[in-house]
Amino acid sequence: MTGTGIDIRPVAGALGAEIEGVDLSRPLPDGEFGTIRRALLDHQVIFFRDQNLSPRGLRDFAARFGPCNRYPFLAGIDDCPEVIEIVKEPGDSVNFGGLWHSDTTYLPRPPLATLLHALEVPPYGGDTLFASARLAFESLSEAMRTALGGVRALSSAGRRYGATGRPPGGEDLVLEAWHPVLRTHPETGRKAIFVNGAHTTRFEGWTEAESRPWIDHLCERVVRPEFTCRFRWRPGSLAVWDNRCTQHFALNDYHGFRRRMHRCTVEGDEPR
Ligand code: SIN
Repeated sequence: MTGTGIDIRPVAGALGAEIEGVDLSRPLPDGEFGTIRRALLDHQVIFFRDQNLSPRGLRDFAARFGPCNRYPFLAGIDDCPEVIEIVKEPGDSVNFGGLWHSDTTYLPRPPLATLLHALEVPPYGGDTLFASARLAFESLSEAMRTALGGVRALSSAGRRYGATGRPPGGEDLVLEAWHPVLRTHPETGRKAIFVNGAHTTRFEGWTEAESRPWIDHLCERVVRPEFTCRFRWRPGSLAVWDNRCTQHFALNDYHGFRRRMHRCTVEGDEPR
């Protein structure tokens, strides 16, 4: 229990903590928000239960972390363009985010954090997996850290986005950005692997064929079971992940049921 009455309980050895004792629909005193922000930095992904948040309420809480940005491929909700609705209908086969990735790394300034709020969940399945790219970095040999220090990789929106090649309903936009393969977190100073299977295409100065075994190795390293946690959604659950040092995977194991979420991202810095 923290001095603010907020309870923070880790959910796994690698990352993830559930936070109790806070109602995010009310204005949060700075002290309580500071505890939550600290928990995000420490645990990399934090979870809340039973939060009754309108799209504006979600956007306003997200804005405590920093300015919110707009998702480039899907239109936001009418009166709240920073919030997108992610829905998988009973007849849909493809889901949004159904592969390991960090969000929108094809942007020059990928999000600091993503907030995902559950509105309707299937009776089973539809969990989200999270992985610590920070722990994965810390598992690399000194020789590999040295070899990859200073190397940059290209992230492209065109590489793969689920089975369709782009987000459901998305337009054809060419968005690409170069980022360091090993990124230093701007707030904690800790390093993390910053390549992902959805968007990273090649290393700078290397061909795709030369880069691929290294990228695949790094991606496999991030998602080793001991670096992950798994979140079971309920209506009103909210997850906030630090997109600078984690990856996530939306499981698509609930065919025939509806799952509806609201999602908002917070603008990040240029990775270094
Ligand atoms: C995402 O990849 O942002 C969505 C994750 C989910 O729906 O669980």
